[in-house]
Amino acid sequence: MTKLENDRFLRALLKQPVDRTPIWMMRQAGRYLPEYRESRAKAGDFLSLCKNADFACEVTMQPLERFPLDAAILFSDILTIPDAMGLGLYFETGEGPKFKRTVRSQQDFDQLIIPKVEDDLGYVMKAISTIRHELNGKVPLIGFSGSPWTLATYMIEGGSSKDFRHSKAMLYDTPELMHQLLDRLADVVIEYLNAQIAAGAQAVQIFDSWGGALSHRAYQEFSLKYMSKIVAGLNRQAEGRTVPVILFSKGGGQWLQSMASVGADALGLDWTTSLRDARALVGDRVALQGNMDPSVLYAKPERIREEVACILEEYGRGSGHVFNLGHGIHQFVDPDHAKAFIDAVVELSPHYHLD
Ligand code: CP3
Repeated sequence: MTKLENDRFLRALLKQPVDRTPIWMMRQAGRYLPEYRESRAKAGDFLSLCKNADFACEVTMQPLERFPLDAAILFSDILTIPDAMGLGLYFETGEGPKFKRTVRSQQDFDQLIIPKVEDDLGYVMKAISTIRHELNGKVPLIGFSGSPWTLATYMIEGGSSKDFRHSKAMLYDTPELMHQLLDRLADVVIEYLNAQIAAGAQAVQIFDSWGGALSHRAYQEFSLKYMSKIVAGLNRQAEGRTVPVILFSKGGGQWLQSMASVGADALGLDWTTSLRDARALVGDRVALQGNMDPSVLYAKPERIREEVACILEEYGRGSGHVFNLGHGIHQFVDPDHAKAFIDAVVELSPHYHLD
């Protein structure tokens, strides 16, 4: 077992003392990097990048070669699960993800494949072990999955959606069908994340990107309940360390109290919530990750630095904060601005960790 050289990300998630605030960026490997665009052109398309362990490893490492990040994130996608369940994922340039088949009836549900994670998603585990080998203990590797609700929206709509027309209709008209689908997805996600942990993921994040589209009652019943089932089903010890779990419900700022009680180690926040208020609300129960508006990276480096200073001050002193954007980095951001952001966290945060 290689020794982990930099564990401040894992330590902050467990609220253990650190020398400075750790940082990584959601979507840190992606189209804003010219070297990513080059790798993708070489691989042919996005899914080929994900399904080939050497390509996935190459693009995972790209942001780490440029910036002093404290974690790597597996290069993959949340939609690998619905793909393995037989829906036929494909990407049309400029239009985002699409599925050949959707799940809108009991019959559609009955036809879903129950994937054998080690076989059908074996390429993900292979990418993880390849990346761990390449990282060689430099920083920890984050594994991830979509939340059942977020995955269900893509499976029901057949792709991205603005109004969640079919998913909301199913939720309100045939809640029992929605619950069957969510429960099935929760079981697959548990197996998938446990396989990622066994393959070498050192922390895992559950992306509930569309949790915030739900009403407050529906959020508890149709999203949080299933994330709670997942958290309870994870093997959270590996290689003699705790494997922290991060829940990120985008738009979930008003539900932090209930999110803090499901047993995750940390909550991700988007930029609409104040870290100061969030910290006061959750107390010692969980660490917090976030939460700079990704659009700040369009501004000048001096302005980015000011915003970083404000966010550090909002969280205040002590461990339990992982710096991140409030959502994925946009494709038109200048990589030098991402660098200014990360450098600012590295330079300004030690002050908040002096005894
Ligand atoms: O964070 C990372 O660097 C790891 C890689 C990662 C990707 N997708 C790569 C990707 C992660 C963690 C994801 C998660 C993901 N995928 C989410 C949850 C996070 C979020 O943004 O809320 C969602 C909702 C998806 C589904 C998905 N995949 C969409 C909607 C799209 C199209 C979006 C777009 O920007 O065009 C994808 C494709 C995708 N996944 C790309 C990347 C780098 C762009 C593909 C390309 O054209 O090269």
